[in-house]
Amino acid sequence: MSKPLQSRLAEEVGKRRTFAIISHPDAGKTTLTEKLLLFGGAIRLAGTVKGRKAAKFATSDWMEIEKQRGISVTSSVMQFDYKGHRVNILDTPGHQDFSEDTYRTLTAADSAVMIIDSAKGVEAQTKKLFQVCRMRGIPIFTFINKLDREGRDPFDLLEEIEQVLGIRSHPMNWPIGMGKQLCGIYDRHKQQVELFDENDTEKIEVTEVSGYDDPKIRKMAGEHLHDQVQQELELLDVAGDDFDFEKVRQGELTPVFFGSAVNNFGVQTFLENFLTLAPTPTARKSNEGEVEPTETKFSGYIFKIQANMNPAHRDRVAFLRIVSGKFERGISVYHARSNKTMKLSQPQQFLAQDRDIVEEAFPGDIIGLFDPGVFRIGDTLAEDRSLAFDELPTFSPELFCKVTVKNALKHKQYQKGIDQLTDEGTIQVFKTPHFEDVILGVVGQLQFEVFDYRMKHEYGVDIQMQRLNYQFARWLVGDVDPNKFRINSTVVLDKNQNYVALFENEYAMRSSMEKFPDIQFLETAP
Ligand code: G4P
Repeated sequence: MSKPLQSRLAEEVGKRRTFAIISHPDAGKTTLTEKLLLFGGAIRLAGTVKGRKAAKFATSDWMEIEKQRGISVTSSVMQFDYKGHRVNILDTPGHQDFSEDTYRTLTAADSAVMIIDSAKGVEAQTKKLFQVCRMRGIPIFTFINKLDREGRDPFDLLEEIEQVLGIRSHPMNWPIGMGKQLCGIYDRHKQQVELFDENDTEKIEVTEVSGYDDPKIRKMAGEHLHDQVQQELELLDVAGDDFDFEKVRQGELTPVFFGSAVNNFGVQTFLENFLTLAPTPTARKSNEGEVEPTETKFSGYIFKIQANMNPAHRDRVAFLRIVSGKFERGISVYHARSNKTMKLSQPQQFLAQDRDIVEEAFPGDIIGLFDPGVFRIGDTLAEDRSLAFDELPTFSPELFCKVTVKNALKHKQYQKGIDQLTDEGTIQVFKTPHFEDVILGVVGQLQFEVFDYRMKHEYGVDIQMQRLNYQFARWLVGDVDPNKFRINSTVVLDKNQNYVALFENEYAMRSSMEKFPDIQFLETAP
């Protein structure tokens, strides 16, 4: 392949950072995202951020259900440039009712930013999302937000991160006061202080200091606070984890930044450090080994499918993460599932009303492809016909219901709806072995409502849903006799005819695990 393409690829890959933000609702994800977008002139917004907050960004209220709830059902992509970098942010729904889609979006990110509310610490949803990042071993950067409010002791927060999430931490900066006393943050590496001025959040004022014992800090913070901060920083120097770039890259150490997103405080320093430390687009595993981003042949995989984003277009959009090569509008790629070569002539980085056609894109970028119904989650699109990326994990659902169609004559549409919605990956369908009862599994309650709504409005089918009491699903691997599992669980089949045991509680699950030590109980599909 030509040298110019190779060097162009190396240059474009070097510029890119693709990450997801993980947090619990209300920690400040929307706010931080908006501030980051303001630092870079946002180039493309693919359906964001909560409508109530940012009318200019709210393009995702494509479905009544979103409008009614004022939340974003599906995650989306944003792109901006900052000081020579091209940044792709993968948004994950912030509401409690998030879905498996959220987990899967994390597989398209090369690193993650974890936002923690300084008053609340590590919360449930953060924990779940963190575990998925951990599984992939991607670097995780922590932003401890809302310093302008009285929060918990920073050491407490660090300890919680280490205890609850099991990751070591290294504070890159340290708060000088909190809440009403907040006067700045001390940068441990650059030896400077970013000053806090509640009344002027536009201006970012930084003062160079000689160290944390600099009299300038004493003057600013007062004796008492300065003594305290000095002691804290001394303790960190002596007893804290050293900064270790390799450990950050392996996802074993999280660099921690403090700030207040709403006040635009600590955000720029966070962004600049993040861009220096976060990885450029990484290789992905395939049947032919790791595919490096700088390989000249184009390849990518679909990690998300979203239907009917704009009711005026009754189509689906498949989100493709580019893994290698250069994407050019009109490129011909091979799609193994349909055994077809297809020309990608309408790539989009869109959204809603404004669909912006992409002329070229590079590894790390996400593009939206018009999907007439041929794509499935995990599909590979590549110039190389024999390439197939490893399958994306199927995550264990946590809520279940039995579903039946009210009017038996509508069975065909019902089946079509179920098939399409399963392809999109927001619901999982299980069947009981003999009676073929249909059981849906989801990660968030909202997915049931979305399912019900879409069955009615898109497929014209009324359904009946009966909630089931299961909380855990585990894929069974080994010599499984489903009858033996009856006491503690119900055994069903997934779409690939794998056995899955559904449990009502952890106790039942543990008992089964103990009773059948030769069987593996997997959290993701084998
Ligand atoms: P989310 O996307 O993670 O759910 O959080 P979001 O950014 O919507 O922030 C949740 C609430 O926290 C918002 O307040 C927001 O203004 C506030 N917030 C975000 N960052 C900070 C911060 O650094 N300090 C303080 N004190 N508050 C912060 P809200 O009252 O729910 O919304 P709004 O009426 O302020 O828009």
